[in-house]
Amino acid sequence: MPSVFAVANPKGGSGKTTVAIILAGEFAKHGYAAVIVDADPQGSSYQWHASSVARGLSPAGVDLVRAPDEGALVQALERLGGYDVIVIDTPGYYGGVLVQSALRADLVVLPCKVHTFDASQVVRTIRNLEQHAAAAQLPMSQHRVLFNEYDSLDRNTRPLREVVAYLDAERVQVCSNALYRRVTFRTMTSGFGTLYQMPDKDESVRKARYNADQVVRELLAASQPASDDETAA
Ligand SMILES: Nc1ncnc2c1ncn2[C@@H]1O[C@H](COP(=O)(O)OP(=O)(O)O)[C@@H](O)[C@H]1O
Ligand SMILES: [Mg+2]
Repeated sequence: MPSVFAVANPKGGSGKTTVAIILAGEFAKHGYAAVIVDADPQGSSYQWHASSVARGLSPAGVDLVRAPDEGALVQALERLGGYDVIVIDTPGYYGGVLVQSALRADLVVLPCKVHTFDASQVVRTIRNLEQHAAAAQLPMSQHRVLFNEYDSLDRNTRPLREVVAYLDAERVQVCSNALYRRVTFRTMTSGFGTLYQMPDKDESVRKARYNADQVVRELLAASQPASDDETAA
């Protein structure tokens, strides 16, 4: 059974496509067969894949399947059982595709900027997904907020403290590693394959890889079922 990661936030521009591409690229780097299911009719991850291929930088170890509606998504997930990892890139609005992606995921990753507007929308999304899960008599999937477009200047600032306190009060789990704002991530998603197809000698690429590695390790750990010890704690 593949591990399924759904990258979700009904707010456009929060970094879903960027995070989906980074996740798939990291798994591929470690030798896993990865596929991105582009469930956003806007097709941004499809565009990344196609323009990388056109440039001769076919994303190494990452396949791409389009599933622009709920029916196509469910069918795609049934067909993709041979992969090790499925990453679902979801649309920038709340609907059936987002709900199905979240219900079927081992981990829902919610990229979020460090601002209360963004954080409150993420909390609303989680509450809605919890209601959908309860209505379907399914457990709510594991989920983590991932701060995106983070800047080292954000550290010890009031917006960060407020957002962290708010998410904590709402009992929402936040990744301890954030994804930094980096031009390399923008360049990669413009159609330059994965981070590992970008030049090794470029220091900013090495920093981006380090950041991606830390984030994906934490997300991978969060996707694993809790051990008995943790459940008891
Ligand atoms: N960590 C990041 N560093 C730099 N640019 C980013 C980062 N995350 C997102 N972006 C940029 O922000 C914009 C929106 O990101 P995208 O991943 O397309 O969001 P979504 O899929 O949620 O709409 C894009 O131009 C993307 O390049
Ligand atoms: Mg997108």
